[in-house]
Amino acid sequence: MITIAIDGPAAAGKGTLSRQIAEEYGFHHLDTGLTYRATAKALLDAGLPLDDEAVAERMALEVELSGLDRSILSAHAIGEAASKIAVMPAVRRALVEAQRAFSKKEPGTVLDGRDIGTVVCPDAAVKLYVTASPEVRAKRRFDEIVGNGAVADYAAIFDDVKKRDERDMGRADSPLRPADDAHLLDTSEMSIEAAFQAAKSLIDAALIKKI
Ligand code: C5P
Repeated sequence: MITIAIDGPAAAGKGTLSRQIAEEYGFHHLDTGLTYRATAKALLDAGLPLDDEAVAERMALEVELSGLDRSILSAHAIGEAASKIAVMPAVRRALVEAQRAFSKKEPGTVLDGRDIGTVVCPDAAVKLYVTASPEVRAKRRFDEIVGNGAVADYAAIFDDVKKRDERDMGRADSPLRPADDAHLLDTSEMSIEAAFQAAKSLIDAALIKKI
């Protein structure tokens, strides 16, 4: 069993990279952001407050990893709500336990999120920290929305990216930061293909070491 940990801020390209790696090696993939999003959506759907830690913990304990639907959970409002409940230690404890259990699946796993290399899987064989400037990340979000035929406001998106970074990096429990032994991949000026090739070299080297 081998675990690949991929962390980084919103819209840095870690989701695409994680899916490509999982496909290349036949590993199971978990986008841990979806677990925070599913918890937030359950609260929103039930009309429950986003600032009651005991209620949010109860919802987190009920999240089924097999039932996470990206197309429903990717809504902007759910992402905002997710980053609010993600500051709560009881919510994180519940979700991290489920994520850790997932990380042990054979033949290997790729988990992406904010605290995989630092908290969820500190012993991961390969840790990547995928980042890009806030301007590049906002532009990618903008292009994605426009590409889907919708109207987008770059300034508002840029503002959102900055606010999400502040919340994710500034929280007391498991803030977003690279693990000491993480490899940094800055995708500001690197194509996703180049990032994938860099990741592949690191993973291949780790696999050889394990044999
Ligand atoms: O990555 P995504 O945008 O889906 O994550 C939504 C929110 O969930 C993030 O802004 C972050 O606050 C939280 N999150 C987290 N730890 C993770 C994954 C996501 O706190 N491992």
